[in-house]
Amino acid sequence: MVKICCIGAGYVGGPTMAVIALKCPDMEVVVVDISEARIAGWNSERLPIYEPGLDDVVKQCRGRNLFFSTDVERYVGEADVVFVSVNTPTKTRGLGAGKAADLTYWESAARMIADVSRSDKIVVEKSTVPVKTAEAIEKILAHNSRGVRYQILSNPEFLAEGTAVRDLFAPDRVLIGGRETPEGQAAVKVLKDVYARWVPEDRIITTNLWSAELSKLAANAFLAQRISSVNAISALCEATGADVTEVAYSIGKDSRIGPRFLSASVGFGGSCFQKDILNLVYICECYGLPEVADYWRQVIGINDYQKSRFVNRVVSSMFNTVAGKKVAVLGFAFKKDTGDTRETPAIDVCRGLLGDKAVVSIYDPQVTEEQVRRDLAMNKFDWDHPRHLQPVGEPADQPVAVTSDAYEAARDAHAVCILTEWEEFRNLDYGRMYDIMQKPAFVFDGRNIVDPEKLRDIGFIVYAIGKPL
Ligand code: NAD
Ligand code: UGA
Repeated sequence: MVKICCIGAGYVGGPTMAVIALKCPDMEVVVVDISEARIAGWNSERLPIYEPGLDDVVKQCRGRNLFFSTDVERYVGEADVVFVSVNTPTKTRGLGAGKAADLTYWESAARMIADVSRSDKIVVEKSTVPVKTAEAIEKILAHNSRGVRYQILSNPEFLAEGTAVRDLFAPDRVLIGGRETPEGQAAVKVLKDVYARWVPEDRIITTNLWSAELSKLAANAFLAQRISSVNAISALCEATGADVTEVAYSIGKDSRIGPRFLSASVGFGGSCFQKDILNLVYICECYGLPEVADYWRQVIGINDYQKSRFVNRVVSSMFNTVAGKKVAVLGFAFKKDTGDTRETPAIDVCRGLLGDKAVVSIYDPQVTEEQVRRDLAMNKFDWDHPRHLQPVGEPADQPVAVTSDAYEAARDAHAVCILTEWEEFRNLDYGRMYDIMQKPAFVFDGRNIVDPEKLRDIGFIVYAIGKPL
C-alpha cells in the first residue's frame, strides 16, 4: 500500500489530497500542518476553506483513508511519497524583497523531511516554486540523508479556487517533472500511476524538472496576461465608445485566441498571479534578462492601473469627492465561490476610497468582518507570513462597516461598487436598492454582471468596466 503524506493543509493540500484519497481508496493519505486551527478545521463539520463540492469528497473518505494531523514528523516519517504544499509567498525583506519567492517554509519542510526520514522517499513539489528549487531541495536532503535516498519530483497544481474539486476531477493536464535517470523515471512512474487512476493517460505530461517548474510560472503569467490585455483594452473602450464585452467576444471567436479568461474586471486578485509573476520577474533579472523581466512586470503594472482607474472613476464621477459619503462595496473575495481574500482587488479599492475619506460599508456572503478588518490593516505581502498576522494599523479608526446583506450595505449609500461576481449580486432587487439610497445613486460595476441599461431605467447613474458611459 502506497502511503502518502502532504505537508500543508491549505487551499491546495486539502482539496488535492481529498481527491487522491477518494480516487485511490487503497492508499493512505495524511495531510499534516503546523497550524492546529487548520487541522482542527479539516477534522470538523465546517472545513477551513469554502470550496463547492469539497465537503462531500472529504466526508466520503475522512477517517477511512484520509486523515488530517498536526503530528507532522510521524506521518512524514512513515510515508513513501511526501507532497510539499506549503505557502511560498513573496519576500518582504532582504535580498529580492517585494519580488522573490520566500522559501523559508519550503526549506523548513525539507529539513524536517531529512530529520525524520528513515526510509527512501519520493518528495513532490506541489507548491509553486522558482525554477531550480528542486536542485536546492536535493542538496538539503542529500547533505542530511544518513543513507536515505530521495527522488524529487515537480508536480505543480493548476486548480483554480471556487472550481477546485471540478478541476481536480477532470484536469486539463497533470504535469510531472523528474530527473532523467532510471531512478528519477521510476519515481515519475509511481506518481503517474496515482493520477492514472482517474486522469486519462494522454493528459498526464511528463517532462524534466526545470520544464515542470517553469511551466507553472509560465501558465499563471499567460493567464494573468490575458486579463491585463483585456483590461488594457477596456480603458480604450471607455475612451472610444467601444464595448469590451463585444470586443472580447469578437476576438475570442478566433480559435487561436479562444473565448475563456477574457472578462474585463476591476483587476485580478488571488494569492498566486501577482506573486508568481513577481517571482518570474525576479528570476529573469537574476539570469540577466531585464527585457524579459520588464515585459512580465507590465502585466502587474496594468493590473494596478486598472484598480486605481476604478477608484478614480468612482471619485471623479461623484463630483470629485467622496468625503463623508457612504459607499457600499458588494463582494470582498477575490472571485466568486470562495471566501479567500488574498490579494483581492477589493482591498486596494477600499483603501483608495478610504484614502479619499469615504465611509465604506462592505458585504460579502463568504467573508467575515474579522477577515475584512485584518485585510484592510495589513501591509502588502504580509498576509502570507504567519508572524505578521497581527494587524499593524488601527482598524478600529477606519470608517468601515461590514454588513450581513447587500441592502443593509446600500442603505443611505451614495454609491454601490460591485467588486466580486457573486451570482446573488446579479439577482438583487435593484429597484428596492435604489429606493433606500441617496440620490443621485451610482452603481460602479467592477465585474460587468448587471445590465447597465436596466439600471439606468431605474434611475441609477451607471459605470461598468469598458462600457459606453
Ligand atoms: P495555504 O497558505 O492555504 O496553505 C499552506 C499551508 O502550509 C498553511 O496551512 C501552513 O500552515 C502550512 N505550512 C507552512 N509551513 C509548514 C511546515 N513547515 N510544516 C507544515 N505545514 C506548514 O497555501 P495554498 O493556497 O494551499 O498554496 C500552497 C502552494 O500552492 C503555494 O506555493 C501556491 O503558490 C501554490 N498554489 C496555490 C493555488 C491556489 O489556488 N491557492 C493553486 C495552485 C498552486
Ligand atoms: C489561478 C489559475 O487559474 C490556476 O490555474 C492556478 O492553479 C492558480 O491561479 C494558482 O496557481 O494559484 P485562481 O487564482 O484560484 O487560479 O483563480 P482564477 O479563476 O484564475 O482568477 C484569478 C483572478 O482573475 C480573480 O480575481 C478573477 O476574478 C480574475 N479574472 C479571471 C478576471 O478578472 N477575468 C477573467 O476573465 C478571469
